Amino acid sequence: MSGETRVAATPETVGKLVKSGLTVQVESQAGTAASFLDAAFTAAGAQIIDTAGWKAAIGQADIVIKVNKPSTDEISAMKAGAVFMGFLQPFASADIVQKLADGKISALAMELLPRITRAQRMDALSAMSTVAGYKAALLAANSIGRFMPMLTTAAGTISPAKAIVIGAGVAGLQAMATAKRLGAVVTAFDTRPAAGEQVKSLGCNFVDMQVSHDQAQDAGGYAKEQSAEFYKQEQDILRKYSKDADIIISTALIPGKKAPVLITEEMVKEMKPGSVIVDMSVEAGGNCTLSELGKTVVKHGVTLIGVTNLPATMPVHASQLYAKTVLAFLGLICPDGKALKLDPNDEIIKGSMVTHQGAVVHPAVKDALAKGK
Ligand code: NAI
Repeated sequence: MSGETRVAATPETVGKLVKSGLTVQVESQAGTAASFLDAAFTAAGAQIIDTAGWKAAIGQADIVIKVNKPSTDEISAMKAGAVFMGFLQPFASADIVQKLADGKISALAMELLPRITRAQRMDALSAMSTVAGYKAALLAANSIGRFMPMLTTAAGTISPAKAIVIGAGVAGLQAMATAKRLGAVVTAFDTRPAAGEQVKSLGCNFVDMQVSHDQAQDAGGYAKEQSAEFYKQEQDILRKYSKDADIIISTALIPGKKAPVLITEEMVKEMKPGSVIVDMSVEAGGNCTLSELGKTVVKHGVTLIGVTNLPATMPVHASQLYAKTVLAFLGLICPDGKALKLDPNDEIIKGSMVTHQGAVVHPAVKDALAKGK
């Protein structure tokens, strides 16, 4: 994918796969942007495949792993019955999903893995959110033209930066922890009261939105959508803090829906000149009405960062963490390094398998495809 720098395996994970009995082939230069060179993959026991050889290599493979979804050419090259693993974006890739089904590929979407205890080591989404949250705080710190910590110097005392983090999921918590480590005073918002404890354990302030547990989150722990009146009230509360903030990092998301609008143009106008909003929800429509997908813009004196694919800006550790989640998942579907074991009744496989034996098998993806037709 254009702009992608991560790689789905590292010499460390390749070494473990080879040891388990698998033959591993790595595309030449696949890890170079992430500082994992071909020579290191070779030393770990992989065969390096040059550009001319990729089709034949994919055609023989029982399992193909990638960071992003496959291209149509790659799907055409894969053999029937093979397994594909990667961030498939199945709700935004109807054509790819259909082609995978037609090609009788068993496609496993890394982002659909259920967040159950047994799947924690395979939780690629959390791994990438950790990277993204950390980087969002650094981008914000780099943009504000002032210190983050309180400083007492001979030339006077500097007050600490004030940061607001909206949404205390995995990315939000890492953004808070990073801003806090840099010395900012951090205030966090989340509709889920359960997030309060985690926020406070980081030494940050939590604004309780007075939503009951059942009203706030579903059985899977994800935020439920709230009413338009609720969002207006949230904007009013947020406004009291945003006027005074140097940094807002917004991560609020509702699975499968447009991101809630929590920062309006009026609120941006009232913010201090030189302050920054990092809108991490920009791909889902944005928490701020003024942020722009993939761009950094300045509006009303406020810098709005709408950067996408933050994990690709830290390819070394993003690849290392992603490769570990893939390795753990491979341990489930190919436990002895020999035969594939795709048990459709296993909760983890059931939750992440999008296509299998010629059909789209994931109920939510199937529904979305039917609605899109
Ligand atoms: P997410 O990326 O779907 O959403 C980000 C955050 O935005 C969530 O905390 C959500 O509550 C919050 N949010 C939504 N609407 C909001 C609003 N109007 N104002 C303020 N905040 C708002 O969340 P993520 O990171 O995917 O985590 C979702 C849940 O899954 C969390 O409860 C998390 O603790 C849980 N989880 C569990 C794991 C496990 O047990 N293995 C691993 C990772 C996450």
